[in-house]
Amino acid sequence: MPNLALVGTQWGDEGKGKIVDWLAERFDVIARYQGGNNAGHTVIYDGVKQVLHLVPSGILRPGKECIIGNGVVVDPEALFKEIDRLEEQGIATRGRLWVSDRAHLILPYHHGIELGSEQRRGEHAIGTTSRGIGPAYQDKMARSGIRAIDCVDRDVLARKVRANLGVVNDLLHHLYDRPPFDADEIIEQYTHWGERLAEYLADTSVRLHTAMGEGRNILFEGAQGTHLDVDHGTYPFVTSSSATAGGVSSGLGVGPNRVDGVLGVTKAYTTRVGSGPMPTQLDDEVGQQLRDVGQEYGATTGRPRRCGWFDGVAARYAVRVNGCDVFVVTKLDVLDSIDPLRICVAYEVDGVRCEEMPANITSATTITPIYEDCPGWEGSVIGARSPEEFPAEARAYLARIAEVSGCPIGIASNGADREAIVMMPDSPLDVLVP
Ligand code: GDP
Ligand code: IMO
Ligand code: MG
Repeated sequence: MPNLALVGTQWGDEGKGKIVDWLAERFDVIARYQGGNNAGHTVIYDGVKQVLHLVPSGILRPGKECIIGNGVVVDPEALFKEIDRLEEQGIATRGRLWVSDRAHLILPYHHGIELGSEQRRGEHAIGTTSRGIGPAYQDKMARSGIRAIDCVDRDVLARKVRANLGVVNDLLHHLYDRPPFDADEIIEQYTHWGERLAEYLADTSVRLHTAMGEGRNILFEGAQGTHLDVDHGTYPFVTSSSATAGGVSSGLGVGPNRVDGVLGVTKAYTTRVGSGPMPTQLDDEVGQQLRDVGQEYGATTGRPRRCGWFDGVAARYAVRVNGCDVFVVTKLDVLDSIDPLRICVAYEVDGVRCEEMPANITSATTITPIYEDCPGWEGSVIGARSPEEFPAEARAYLARIAEVSGCPIGIASNGADREAIVMMPDSPLDVLVP
């Protein structure tokens, strides 16, 4: 059975949650491979809105197994807040949600370090989600991280927390002028989380291989997006994990040859939250219209998202670095009644036409998008259930996105609800999702 990776192709918030929820019906296991509760994945069905931060969006489909992989950083307090909320709604997590015993934990001092670091950066701050993500990954790479398995053994936990705080409290005091953390308090708290975590912990790589051995298929759920990836994004204005398809393998302990296809989720326009370059950003009334109609406010922090035209350069880049086989284009309905629409087909960098994302995008003196106009449409794409029901201009717009990006479109999403999905004919999705 084919396994599919689903990734964001832009700067996050492409609508991954909605598409994972829709696809989850056709998969047996849904596995998150990176990020943490910086993610906010919205799913709307039966008029009810659910926002998932750490738990894979597949949890909303009864009977599906969900995995939080070793590549994810887990804030236990945030995890149990989410688990408790799901359980209160009658959505079972025990016996079907598994957290990798090798996943690194977010500790209270990570929040302190992040605050200090962002403050010190001043006007160059990254504009993070303040969830402690960066410092947790920093500790992981520095080989001083505390893993989920560590907090089920109080002695191991105590030793590691004390060793870390010896350094961290000095850093907080001398570099950031911030208050210290108390080791006993953290050891107490995390021993408690360890007791709760115990029944969810597993060697999730083994679980995934067992599932594959039994012929069950896996949907790998990405968080954030390609241009927030620590290697391939608009560095340093990125998150600290591998959000691109390459992260699946290391973040879950499955070989790259087990990823049978890559699905890129892209908005029909562009948004970004936090700092950093966004060449097609609109600071005019069209940008405001996209924000208002698309309700572009962060699902995790509530911050207004920056909005702009579809960026074909960024999309082509995402197709290449992820190996996207097929695109899902979301929020087509938000473009109803905007005329003309514009697609960025290349950039002008310091006066020279540039077809690729420049590595120095954050410091290039001027990047001017080169646009192509596309006619908008009268009427609405809302309620359509097949592409024939779209206005001809909407079909032409999708076709041009596919051409400019170099990736066929398998699905157009025309509303926030689970049912608002239009399958495009003859796409690779027919083979990837039988
Ligand atoms: P994610 O982080 O990629 O899962 O995306 P978010 O949930 O942060 O943001 C996407 C937002 O767009 C959510 O509020 C979704 O409910 C909404 N959404 C998803 N697809 C569509 C669509 O086709 N049309 C409209 N109008 N809203 C959508
Ligand atoms: P989903 O999964 C949009 C952004 C933050 C900030 C940068 C670094 O919902 O698409 P971090 O807290 O990760 O260190 O912040 O990354 N960011 C996101 N933007 N969607 C997300 O997740 C994001 N997760 C992080 O705004 O610019
Ligand atoms: Mg989001």
